[in-house]
Amino acid sequence: MATTGQWFVGKSVIVTGGGSGIGRATARRFGEEGARVCVADLNLESAQKVAADIVAKGGDAFACQVDVAEEADNERMVAETVKRHGGLDVAFLNAGYGGWPVDLLEGDVAEFDRIIAINLRGCYLGMRSVMRSIRSGGAVVATASIGGLMGVSFNAAYAASKHGVIGMVKSFAEAFAVKGVRINALCPGAVATAMTGYPDGDLGLSGDALPMVEFKGRAAPEYMAESVLFMASNRAAGMTGSYMVVDAGQTSNLSRPK
Ligand SMILES: NC(=O)c1ccc[n+]([C@@H]2O[C@H](COP(=O)([O-])OP(=O)(O)OC[C@H]3O[C@@H](n4cnc5c(N)ncnc54)[C@H](O)[C@@H]3O)[C@@H](O)[C@H]2O)c1
Repeated sequence: MATTGQWFVGKSVIVTGGGSGIGRATARRFGEEGARVCVADLNLESAQKVAADIVAKGGDAFACQVDVAEEADNERMVAETVKRHGGLDVAFLNAGYGGWPVDLLEGDVAEFDRIIAINLRGCYLGMRSVMRSIRSGGAVVATASIGGLMGVSFNAAYAASKHGVIGMVKSFAEAFAVKGVRINALCPGAVATAMTGYPDGDLGLSGDALPMVEFKGRAAPEYMAESVLFMASNRAAGMTGSYMVVDAGQTSNLSRPK
């Protein structure tokens, strides 16, 4: 893997949803770059495994159990990170829930509430807790989706939640520019993770199952991690209140065959 220079050495980083998929790949990359990583997830066991992986490779990490939909959990996650690391420099607010395909008229409203609670309320609460403590010059990346740019008729709640994440990023970016903190969103296309049924991020499977024929294999979460590290580093110093689409061309062309 290419390094991003010395930017993350000794930096204090939080990754939510760090126990699996995009969060796991990104937490590992931050660890490789010398960051001190708080691997936060609802699933403590998976977070502990990722933290142990990072430590086994000579890095610095600890696991934290958090439900991002709960204000007190977000506050505790940030407080524990600040206590252990002496501050906070980067947050990757990535935890999310995909939900299930539901009929627009018949779908269960409780499922709508759950998606909004985790993806949108979770992003809002995470931003609030992080912005109270993050150091000047720091960076936040939130995971939206190409479903934050386009409708998803079989999962309107998911599309609405991810459109909301982009709105949140733009709103916080403007408000906290004065603190010197950059805030951006990642918009992945389909990525091979537990959410899409490929928990091991298998490169071969992802190419066959997802609509990126020419870029077979580029749906792996590691491709997302590289873009997150870019947005969190000073190489993206000119970028805030914005988003990066990383979808291997999925949304690039109206004539792309389905
Ligand atoms: N996989 C895709 O195709 C895809 C595409 C676009 C966007 N995304 C987004 O990427 C992010 C990561 O998803 P992934 O694909 O890596 O899925 P994943 O299922 O592999 O990982 C999601 C992680 O979030 C954790 N999580 C769920 N609810 C939580 C909560 N309330 N509090 C704390 N942690 C919680 C899960 O335990 C899990 O470890 C999500 O925001 C998702 O919406 C995924």
